[in-house]
Amino acid sequence: MDRKEFFSQIGVGAAALLVPACLGGLTGCSKSVSAPTNVDFTIDVSTGSLATNGGYLVQNGVLVARTTSGSFLAVSAACTHEGTNVKYVSSSNSFTCPNHNAQFNSTGAVTQGPATTSLTKYNTTLTGTSLRVYS
Ligand code: FES
Repeated sequence: MDRKEFFSQIGVGAAALLVPACLGGLTGCSKSVSAPTNVDFTIDVSTGSLATNGGYLVQNGVLVARTTSGSFLAVSAACTHEGTNVKYVSSSNSFTCPNHNAQFNSTGAVTQGPATTSLTKYNTTLTGTSLRVYS
């Protein structure tokens, strides 16, 4: 093997190792994730997943959840680590990311990495069966 051939193989080998590392979601490969701004929409909570305590949905990039006690929470849906939509866990009133298992409490604060930034929390106001979600 000559020198050119050697470096050629080393270069290919290093690149082949780096690509799977980023796809695997190591913290060094995190993306910039931004939360929705100027949020203001309403949802009819008399039907669908928000009609039941513990249910949730994602609309306009916002996860809206109905707690087991019937109150409502709204946070940015995209995990602040790499943007995968988080899920609401009604039993612990918290949010979890299925991608790398980051955990957030009911206010959106990080309770377990690899995420380091909180989810954005939005306001909710219920009038009859109409829930307003807003910044
Ligand atoms: S995308 Fe990595 S923990 Fe959520």
